[in-house]
Amino acid sequence: MNRQFALFQSHLDFAHTYWKQIIAAGDTVIDATCGNGHDTLFLAQIVLTDTSGVVIACDLQKQALDNTEKRLRESNLLSGKLERVRFVQGCHSTFPKDLKSGEVKLIVYNLGYLPKGDKAKTTLTETTLDSLKAATELVVSEGIISVTCYPGHSEGKREEEAVLQWASGLDPRFWSSSHHQWVNREESPSLLLLQKGC
Ligand SMILES: C[S@@+](CC[C@H](N)C(=O)[O-])C[C@H]1O[C@@H](n2cnc3c(N)ncnc32)[C@H](O)[C@@H]1O
Repeated sequence: MNRQFALFQSHLDFAHTYWKQIIAAGDTVIDATCGNGHDTLFLAQIVLTDTSGVVIACDLQKQALDNTEKRLRESNLLSGKLERVRFVQGCHSTFPKDLKSGEVKLIVYNLGYLPKGDKAKTTLTETTLDSLKAATELVVSEGIISVTCYPGHSEGKREEEAVLQWASGLDPRFWSSSHHQWVNREESPSLLLLQKGC
């Protein structure tokens, strides 16, 4: 029997609980792996509630961007606000060139492959590391980089190990780097949170 847990049912509860504490209406945020758009919608419902927030949704696959756009369009809460969502198809190792250093409040990665999609189109260790390095420049003081890792498949395991190794080397004077994981669920997804100091 699957029991319910009021505090954190899944790794997504972890992530969303922290994001809510740091982002607000008017912020610029990036979903670096928008997939089917669940996280993009969550972010948009917070940052687009005034007239200045921006959401940048990136994914390698057109299918993912289409799915995300459809999900946002179907949300009544976002009507009239979708012009402030930018859909970017491509590898997240390159962010849009017009973004300035220190402009983004939150950058989220939900690594792996599109659920029910092509498992070969998974995030890869090398480009994920390149993207994370670029993200450290873009994020504002007190902003966060959030990375959900999936060690349940071989590239995901390699990716989690490499990302944790890189994150553990961040200078503690400038970065708070923490890792959250269930210790009684095998190969459970985990959440890495990197906060830039002010
Ligand atoms: C686990 S899914 C994301 C799920 C999404 N957060 C959601 O709420 O539905 C991972 C996504 O990363 C995308 N992806 C894989 N490699 C990528 C890359 N190098 N750059 C950007 N997106 C990538 C995949 O196409 C896939 O849609």
